[in-house]
Amino acid sequence: MPVQDLDKIFQEKIDDEIKIEPKDWMPEAYRKTNTRQISQHAHSEIVGMLPEGNWISRAPTLKRKAILIAKVQDEAGHGLYLYSAAETLGMSREEMINDLHSGKAKYSSIFNYPTITWADMGAIGWLVDGAAIMNQVMLTRTSYGPYARAMVRICKEESFHQRQGFEILLVLSRGSKEQKEMCQDAINRWWWPSLMMFGPKDSESTNSDQSMKWKIKRKTNDELRRNFVDMIAEQIKTLGMKLPDDNLKWNEKRKHYDFGEINWEEFWNVVKGNGPCNKQRLDARKKAWENGAWVREAAAAYAKKKASSPASGGTKGGALVAA
Ligand code: 3HC
Repeated sequence: MPVQDLDKIFQEKIDDEIKIEPKDWMPEAYRKTNTRQISQHAHSEIVGMLPEGNWISRAPTLKRKAILIAKVQDEAGHGLYLYSAAETLGMSREEMINDLHSGKAKYSSIFNYPTITWADMGAIGWLVDGAAIMNQVMLTRTSYGPYARAMVRICKEESFHQRQGFEILLVLSRGSKEQKEMCQDAINRWWWPSLMMFGPKDSESTNSDQSMKWKIKRKTNDELRRNFVDMIAEQIKTLGMKLPDDNLKWNEKRKHYDFGEINWEEFWNVVKGNGPCNKQRLDARKKAWENGAWVREAAAAYAKKKASSPASGGTKGGALVAA
């Protein structure tokens, strides 16, 4: 069948809300966009473990420590689901990891900022995971089946992450003068980078138009960012804190909050690898990969041994007996 016909059938499936599955025909550009987005998303999850992992040994109580460990482990799990989903498109995990380490593949700008105080754990949960959920609820309905299914569970876990972050800040906001200041300071530092997570303005977004047509994305970067601002501008009232934006104001006509201009120069600087912690994050990931080499080798050797044992139907040489 000519490619134009295949393209037409493919778009009809998308328009009819039929999920695209790994063995279905798909345009190469659809495969490429999903591989790019899902693998970048996976990288964000595992790099995202680092800023919070930094506070596990310094959590203020045993209970806080247990919760933080669980949260960081959840992020590792999300990375694994997402790498698996990306692999169904034909790229090997090793290739994806190599692209992360070489700087070819991106990961979310947000994880290149430092975590300076305990209140940062609250701000990350509330703002960063809050921004992530705003984007990811949309992705539970993305057109590529394995990605959509992975996102359902991820969103449930992210909701818990956001609540635990808010609760950390709530306790601080009702504490001593120093605790209140620490809470406000963390909000001040994480607010603008959280807004940057949604990506460039729609007018600058190179992938959005095509990704909306293919229903990979169902809302634009600006729409999601606007919804996030509306949500947080209300929630912050419970904390009795302020968002660091003098232009934040309810607009009765638009039925949305107006807000100030994002520093796009800072955003692109961080995306290009020059943020406060880019080097530190990549170095930590490379070190973890090197230190984990023996685990991967042992697992591969065990799998080979198991495949070649007579009980598993394998041969001594390791090749599987044809069924
Ligand atoms: N950080 C780094 N790069 C970003 C970025 C960000 N915040 N936002 C956009 N970019 C990059 C894009 O990847 C793209 O680069 P590329 O074409 O070279 O890959 C370029 O900037 C232009 O942006 P577009 O708007 O055209 O890109 P997309 O259509 O891909 O939209 C996105 C960007 C909304 C982030 C989309 O990729 C997406 O929805 N991704 C899945 C969700 C995700 O990755 N979230 C990251 C956070 S995960 C997380 O926070 C974990 C949680 O547990 C805390």
